Amino acid sequence: MAGAAVPVPVSRHAAVVVVLVLAAAHGAFCGSSHVELAAGVVARGGNAPSLRAPRGNVTGADGAPAPAPSGSLAGCGCGPRPAPWQFLNQKLEALWPVIQAFKKTITCDPLGVTATWEGPDLCSSYFNGTKYKGFYCDFPPSANTTLTVASIDFNGFGLCAPSLAGFVDQFPDLALFHANSNNFSGDVPDLTHLPFFYELDLSNNNFSGPFPDAVVPLGGLLFLDLRFNRYAGAVPPPVFALTVEALFLNNNGFDGRIPDSFGSTGAKYLVVANNQFTGPIPRSIYNTSATLSEVLFLNNRLSGCLPYEIGLVEGLAVFDAGGNEIAGPIPLSFGCLRDVEELNLAGNQLYGQVPDVVCLLAKTGKLRNLSLSDNFFHSVGHHCMELVRSRVLDVRRNCILGFPDQRPPLECAAFYADPSKHCPFIPHIPCDLPGYHHPPAKAALPAAAAHGHGHSQPQGQGGGN
Ligand SMILES: *[C@@H]1O[C@H](CO)[C@@H](O)[C@H](O)[C@H]1NC(C)=O
Ligand SMILES: *[C@@H]1O[C@H](CO)[C@@H](O)[C@H](O)[C@H]1NC(C)=O
Ligand SMILES: *[C@@H]1O[C@H](CO)[C@@H](O)[C@H](O)[C@H]1NC(C)=O
Ligand SMILES: *[C@@H]1O[C@H](CO)[C@@H](O)[C@H](O)[C@H]1NC(C)=O
Ligand SMILES: *[C@@H]1O[C@H](CO)[C@@H](O)[C@H](O)[C@H]1NC(C)=O
Ligand SMILES: *[C@@H]1O[C@H](CO)[C@@H](O)[C@H](O)[C@H]1NC(C)=O
Ligand SMILES: *[C@@H]1O[C@H](CO)[C@@H](O)[C@H](O)[C@H]1NC(C)=O
Repeated sequence: MAGAAVPVPVSRHAAVVVVLVLAAAHGAFCGSSHVELAAGVVARGGNAPSLRAPRGNVTGADGAPAPAPSGSLAGCGCGPRPAPWQFLNQKLEALWPVIQAFKKTITCDPLGVTATWEGPDLCSSYFNGTKYKGFYCDFPPSANTTLTVASIDFNGFGLCAPSLAGFVDQFPDLALFHANSNNFSGDVPDLTHLPFFYELDLSNNNFSGPFPDAVVPLGGLLFLDLRFNRYAGAVPPPVFALTVEALFLNNNGFDGRIPDSFGSTGAKYLVVANNQFTGPIPRSIYNTSATLSEVLFLNNRLSGCLPYEIGLVEGLAVFDAGGNEIAGPIPLSFGCLRDVEELNLAGNQLYGQVPDVVCLLAKTGKLRNLSLSDNFFHSVGHHCMELVRSRVLDVRRNCILGFPDQRPPLECAAFYADPSKHCPFIPHIPCDLPGYHHPPAKAALPAAAAHGHGHSQPQGQGGGN
């Protein structure tokens, strides 16, 4: 994939539009974070939270209104500590030194945002003011008359700081921390004591080392984005048991096998692309069938046989495992992916016939892009011919006789002679398929199976991945 290694927030396969509808702000962690990862969408939406809640009287714990004179010391960037009565409430008074201490650790600030972090108006944005850029306030459920910092959004600020510890973890009512495109690094602090926390975006920063352990116990997390950093090593199995709706781990240096716990993920959007993962796609993927919609495995070093179980993930809209070393025929179970729009298996070691039942999905389902180039397929099903013509199906650089732009015959012969590449062929189709399962339901399945058998050379015997 072009640009795969370039650490930019906007990439074809990290395509995410995050729309935060924080209508009810803090009450919103019961599902207000709406994430759309549309296939082919490349833009990452600015996800500045819009925090709107009914405005009450602007009075603090001490009942004082909040005028805000603040003589800032020019040059220093850190004004004098405001008097307690100048803060809206004690929560904000307690947060002032936290922000000032963090400000002192910041070593670059290309947009000059930290200059606004002075004075007592931490909730300036709530009143449409210009102080404390990046900080957003709301009323927490636990103290619903006390305005406090509910989310921090530093997206695109380009700030450099060696650590977030002692900062993010010091906002007791924090629900979101977004830090896309900064230069933060160091350890992710323990956030388990923040009861409302549900969204963490550390994408496109300078984090490195092993997977950040601190996120693993975050029970209420709905959104975790670690992409475009320099994390490496194995992903701990419990990560896939997180309650997240969206999990982005792409464009790091993660390696090792994708754990079998993969099947416990309740995520709708899961991206592990552009890492160094090895081993097979876990067969436990069948267990995600109620939730998984878009999954991107592309550009790793995944191997093994393409699991039959993928065809059981009913709601899949995007499946992308391109640019790996995955072998085998396409299981006929893929014909059951009625919602699939994009299926990318290009650049693997797949072989046999491109199943007619999969090509039929362009007619009976939603398939509009079937990328199978750079494999070893030797033929295509009847309905696939049309798709090649209409450019829905790309089968360039395969082993299909009579087709343009195919591999040299010798390369194909060598591949087909190598038994180490062979996988079992599973003809079973675990769903009713129009045109296959009727008219006479009895005869249809064996016919489809025989069809597949007859053309899917070579075939392994028994066993799985
Ligand atoms: C705000 O407080 C003032 C005095 O403390 C009171 O007169 C006024 O009605 C309050 N306004 C609202 C909207 O509660
Ligand atoms: C802040 O801006 C919003 C949207 O522009 C507007 O609805 C609201 O009335 C403004 N509030 C204040 C205090 O100006
Ligand atoms: C605020 O909290 C009180 C008591 O916990 C509750 O009765 C009230 O409905 C809450 N108000 C809002 C706006 O959530
Ligand atoms: C981080 O800093 C480096 C060097 O100063 C810069 O090249 C890079 O663009 C920065 N990254 C981000 C995401 O701002
Ligand atoms: C990124 O982190 C490395 C250490 O992990 C550090 O040497 C480098 O200066 C950091 N880059 C920026 C721009 O902060
Ligand atoms: C299936 O998912 C559930 C949670 O949704 C999990 O408890 C179970 O271990 C998973 N099973 C497999 C085989 O992945
Ligand atoms: C189909 O998908 C492949 C792989 O994701 C992509 O490279 C190609 O541009 C797509 N084609 C169309 C017409 O969208």
